Parts: sequence; C-alpha cells; structure tokens
Amino acid sequence: MKFFVDTANLEDIREANDMGVLDGVTTNPSLVKAEGNVDFHERVLEICQTVDGDVSAEVTATEFDGMMEEAHTLAQIHDNVVVKIPLIKDGIKALRALDEEGIKTNCTLCFSPTQALLAAKAGGDYISPFIGRIDDISSDGMGLIEEIVQIYDNYGFETEILAASIRHPTHVKRAALAGADVATMPFSVLTNLLEHPLTDRGLERFLADWEDYKEARDEAPATTTA
Ligand code: E4P
Repeated sequence: MKFFVDTANLEDIREANDMGVLDGVTTNPSLVKAEGNVDFHERVLEICQTVDGDVSAEVTATEFDGMMEEAHTLAQIHDNVVVKIPLIKDGIKALRALDEEGIKTNCTLCFSPTQALLAAKAGGDYISPFIGRIDDISSDGMGLIEEIVQIYDNYGFETEILAASIRHPTHVKRAALAGADVATMPFSVLTNLLEHPLTDRGLERFLADWEDYKEARDEAPATTTA
C-alpha cells in the first residue's frame, strides 16, 4: 500500500518524507488556501522537489477547455505532477483526453461506485473516494472502497484506488484490508499510526530495567569465563 500525505504544508511533507515511508502527496484548493499567501505553482514545484513520488495538484476550471489548459500548465511544472480532475461530465472527458496525451490524472470527489467505474473507463490513473466525508453524513465510506475494489477486480481496470478524506488510523487499516492501493492522510494521522500505549509502557520498562542492570553490573562486575 502506498502512503501519501494530504497537505500542501512543506514542513509536514518534509517530516513525513524523513520517516522514509512517503510515496507521494495530494493537495486540493482548500489545502492550498490553508497555507495562506503562497504561489500555487511554486508550492507544487517545492513539493515535487521534496518528495520522490506522485504529487496531485487540482484544476479549478469546470469546463473541458479550461481543465485542459490548467492541466497542461500543471503537468509542465514537474514530471511527478498528477493532475487532479473533478468527477463531473467535462472531467470525464478531460480524463480521456489527458490519458491520450500521457498526462497522469487523479479523479477526485468520488462518492459512488458508478462514478468510479466511469473514471476507470475514461483512463484515470487514480480514483479518489472520499471516505471520511461519506462517514460524516452517516453513510458507509469503507463500503464504497470495497465495492470499487470488487468492480475494478471484476474487469481488470488498472486505475489505482486512492482512499481519501481519511480521518483516523482505523480508516487506514480498513482501507488496507479492503485492498485500496493508496491511502492519503493528514500528517497527524500518519504519526498516529505509530501510537500504542503498550509500546510506550513496554519501552519505558525495558529502559528502566537496562539502567538497573548497568547499575548492578557496575557494583559487581560480571566474571568472565576463560
Ligand atoms: C483528497 O485528495 C482530498 O484532498 C482529501 O482527502 C479531502 O479530505 P477532507 O474530506 O478531509 O477535506
């Protein structure tokens, strides 16, 4: 399973990358807005120079020509840019056209299996089902991932399933069990994957016992066998 961080924050991206488990980054207009007064294209380039992996950057046009124009500009920033296209009619058309041009795409804002089917048929490289936002309205985000996995398996689609809108480690675990190819998550969720109180307690005990052992050894050095 690939791990992406879902942020446009360079500090978080650097820290995640330093862990050695980062495969890419996803951004969206809201995440760019959260960064304040930054130049979008410059930030995309900085992210690409920080992480050796796919970096999703989203178009904001909603009609075909505008999407294509923005996609061309974004794709020129760096070879690792993946153009994020919304799951609307002109978006499907753009996915097909960009696939024919060899430009990688991530089809975003997916909330149903039939949307995912259309994106795969159009040649999208990634499909992004937003599981957290589905859970937010008391529906079953993980059920959507499972259905897409089955549909793509049935027909051998190569579009990668990118579990998005992840809110906590259980989302990551269940997406992995369901067979999602990628999980994109906030940096806080990535670090939360590490957390377990028994790990902390166990380490504390090991270190305390090691100190006791050293103290006892210094007081009565162990005898060596000849
Ligand atoms: C995915 O690529 C999106 O950027 C993201 O996961 C949306 O998550 P949210 O529902 O937390 O905004």
